[in-house]
Amino acid sequence: MHFNVGIIGATGMVGQRFITLLENHPWFEIKVLAASSRSAGKTYEEALGERWAMKAPLSDKIKKMNVYDAVKDMDKIVSEVDFVFCAVDMKKDEIRALEEAYAKKECPVISNNSAHRGTKDVPMIVPEINPEHAEIIHAQRKRLGTKKGFVAVKSNCSLQSYVPAIHPLMKFGPKNVLTCTYQAISGAGKTFERWPEIIDNVIPYIGGEEEKSEQEPLKIWGKIEDGEIKNATSPSITAQCIRVPVSDGHLAAVFASFDKKPTKEEILTAWKEFKGVPQELDLPSAPKQFLNYFEDDNRPQTKLDRELEGGMAVSIGRLREDTQYDYKFVCLSHNTLRGAAGGAVLMAELLAAKGYLD
Ligand SMILES: NC(=O)c1ccc[n+]([C@@H]2O[C@H](COP(=O)([O-])OP(=O)(O)OC[C@H]3O[C@@H](n4cnc5c(N)ncnc54)[C@H](OP(=O)(O)O)[C@@H]3O)[C@@H](O)[C@H]2O)c1
Repeated sequence: MHFNVGIIGATGMVGQRFITLLENHPWFEIKVLAASSRSAGKTYEEALGERWAMKAPLSDKIKKMNVYDAVKDMDKIVSEVDFVFCAVDMKKDEIRALEEAYAKKECPVISNNSAHRGTKDVPMIVPEINPEHAEIIHAQRKRLGTKKGFVAVKSNCSLQSYVPAIHPLMKFGPKNVLTCTYQAISGAGKTFERWPEIIDNVIPYIGGEEEKSEQEPLKIWGKIEDGEIKNATSPSITAQCIRVPVSDGHLAAVFASFDKKPTKEEILTAWKEFKGVPQELDLPSAPKQFLNYFEDDNRPQTKLDRELEGGMAVSIGRLREDTQYDYKFVCLSHNTLRGAAGGAVLMAELLAAKGYLD
């Protein structure tokens, strides 16, 4: 399997992650880097300036690549790639238009942006949870008038720990879920150098994050009906999202009640035994064990556990009964790996394996 890919928003925090994940990818080869008109026409190294925030060094090949203008150079870009990853900081209506324009030029878009997450025929796929939502792409292509082009989106990074943890428990009918998330600064596209005010500080507001954390899971757990994804109506989720001074990794404290309260052993077994299509297909970026329970009360810790299985696995700990809900626990996922670029790469692998990118 071989696909030429473009990264739209390549100079940003998520774009940089895409570069590190795709440089040695067995199926996907980086052919195009694109960003705003501010970066266009420069080499990637010039466009980036001091912004490289990844631990892995930037390779000479990528440093020297020319950066395209994501809007003005669209025709050139689509002629050079089989599909694009997109993670840009623009207004929502501009992103919607940009992504649909690529799709209409028969270039599939795998997006990290939130602009199309509410669009009823755009699948929002967590590959282990709702791979079957890819089927809605047929309806979307009909609407767009395309043969190949479509948009598929990643969900918000905040929910990437607790939705996977709750998913294997759906058979017990989760009804009320409360979550407080402790979110890393890379989720705001920031580093400590560029955001010194966050050091020794906690900020109790992340614009739009609580609504996304409460609503997006219901689309992920929704069903395809009449060419649309109809949202699930339960569980009812309430969220508080807090920015904390860590570089990477979103941790969530979760409380949950069920229609049929499971035993602690039943929950632990459900987590341990859970496998999704990425594991069955052995996709290149799939973690071997998606959900990992730690017995130690001190785990998971953001700094120690965020990189588990290349940052693609979810860590869970501290499962215990609660006085107001049935159970409470803590879970963690890497926000720019599983929660952003890594999750998008895994989604692209799933779509490639299922023939949607041909
Ligand atoms: N960080 C995360 O953990 C995370 C997680 C999930 C989703 N996301 C989403 O991913 C997207 C990008 O986030 P980020 O943190 O990577 O942002 P970022 O670091 O601020 O990077 C933004 C990128 O967008 C490009 N851009 C800005 N205006 C543009 C325009 N008019 N045309 C084309 N490109 C333009 C920038 O290019 P220039 O360098 O040329 O300005 C840069 O490459 C956002 O929608 C965000 O919500 C982020």
